[in-house]
Amino acid sequence: MLAPRIQGLPLVGAFFAHRADPLDFLTRASRLGDVVGFRLGRSEFHLISHPDGVQRVLVDNAAAYHKTGPGQDLIRYAFGDGLPTSEGERWRAQRRTTGPAFRNDRMADLVPAMASGASVLVDALLTSASRGDAIEATETFARVTLEIASRAMFGVDLASPASPVGAAQIGHATGGSAQAARTTGGSASTDRTTPQPDRAAAIERALGTIRCEVTRRGTSLTHGILGTSAPTPGNRRFAAAIRDLRAVAASMLALRRATSRDDGGEPPDDLLAILLGADHAANGDGDEALLDQLVPLLIASHLTTSNTLTWTLWLLSQDVQARERAEAEVDRVLGGRTPGADDVEQLPFVRAVIDEAMRLYPPGWRLVRWVADDDEIAGFRIPRATRVFLSPWVTHRHPAWWDAPDAFRPERFLAPAHERFAYFPFGFGVRQCLGRRFALLEATVLVSSILQRVRLDPVPGQLVVPAAQMTLTPRDGLRMRPSPR
Ligand code: HEM
Repeated sequence: MLAPRIQGLPLVGAFFAHRADPLDFLTRASRLGDVVGFRLGRSEFHLISHPDGVQRVLVDNAAAYHKTGPGQDLIRYAFGDGLPTSEGERWRAQRRTTGPAFRNDRMADLVPAMASGASVLVDALLTSASRGDAIEATETFARVTLEIASRAMFGVDLASPASPVGAAQIGHATGGSAQAARTTGGSASTDRTTPQPDRAAAIERALGTIRCEVTRRGTSLTHGILGTSAPTPGNRRFAAAIRDLRAVAASMLALRRATSRDDGGEPPDDLLAILLGADHAANGDGDEALLDQLVPLLIASHLTTSNTLTWTLWLLSQDVQARERAEAEVDRVLGGRTPGADDVEQLPFVRAVIDEAMRLYPPGWRLVRWVADDDEIAGFRIPRATRVFLSPWVTHRHPAWWDAPDAFRPERFLAPAHERFAYFPFGFGVRQCLGRRFALLEATVLVSSILQRVRLDPVPGQLVVPAAQMTLTPRDGLRMRPSPR
């Protein structure tokens, strides 16, 4: 049986309706049925919004649903063929190598790096408060999560001086192809006195351009025709940003190698050590393969978590009672201390607030799969060589699965009673987010550290609406004013 269908226009199907507002389009589509078909440009899609369908695609018949396809090709082009986009044997090998770094028992060791990032953030917020300054929440949180990810996973302090190679390359890409950008070298000698550009700023700058280009191309009819290799200004801009991003990552790699050599003692025991140990670098594959793993992890880990922080603190600013309850829990459990690994389990309400924020504003608002084998979901045919969308945004707010779906009610996660597959901010199955525990730990440490000492309230007069970009982010940013508690 064929699924209900949105007809759209000749040739382009529902392309323009989807491009105008993907969140609204998908929500309206889901009201037509649990499985709904439509065409976007030349490609056929089904939106699957029923939790049973989510389970079928991500778990029960996951082998028939691949992560390849134009959208993912773009991500792979931008960040390298790392874990989030790789497929088949390459993915299995990467997951085997990287998985151990994210084992449960290793996570507690990362809490001090998270807590120290949180305390720098809180001090900066208090300084802004004393000056009467507002902050841009999205940028502030992106910076702190980037710094924590660099330190916790890669053992690199973004503010440290780097090798001359890194210094020369950061921020100096001026065009050319992304392929050329991928030859960044990276095993240089280190002069720790070389004046440094700001790595975090360089990453954010490159990422700003990449996010724009990915979002624009994901909703462009001409991208499918022109691709990324035609020498258009947009393609040059895109390639230059990719090259900048990889140059910073290469400088982190060089710095890390130099630091390990200088220390001469026990090698560090973090993700980068594991990747270096698996040794692409020394034997054969070279640094480019290592960067293909490192860059997507750096990006996957920080934007998603910073979006979660932004939405969590915004939601709390809109609900005085929930904020006071969370503050009281933090005061009771931490009593003014910096949070440690054991404390995190003792903060159920803070965690429920974060879970609820990810229900209402899931950073990964849409998962895409390429259908490799014919399938059937809820009695409807899902033909091979088409694509499916699963949307946490849609299913998390579907009235069939949630009471008062648009209301912020953290209590619902204190004793969760929802359908298991109606909530999937981290996906499910073999491709589930590798950094789930890391992210939840980091978000809990950061949110509780902020609640302990600072209040954040939005500067009045802003319209806060989510934008479906690479991640779900406030469309016009979010200005917040900190004040001491
Ligand atoms: C709140 C924060 C985060 C959210 C909401 C999130 C969400 C997701 C989602 C939805 C997926 C699955 C995508 C799919 O099935 O198509 C995913 C995959 C992934 N995430 Fe996260 N993520 C977060 C933080 C992190 C962190 C901190 C890391 C750390 C490195 C990370 C690393 C990854 C990786 C490597 C994958 C690909 C896994 C694979 O395909 O084997 N994520 N994430």
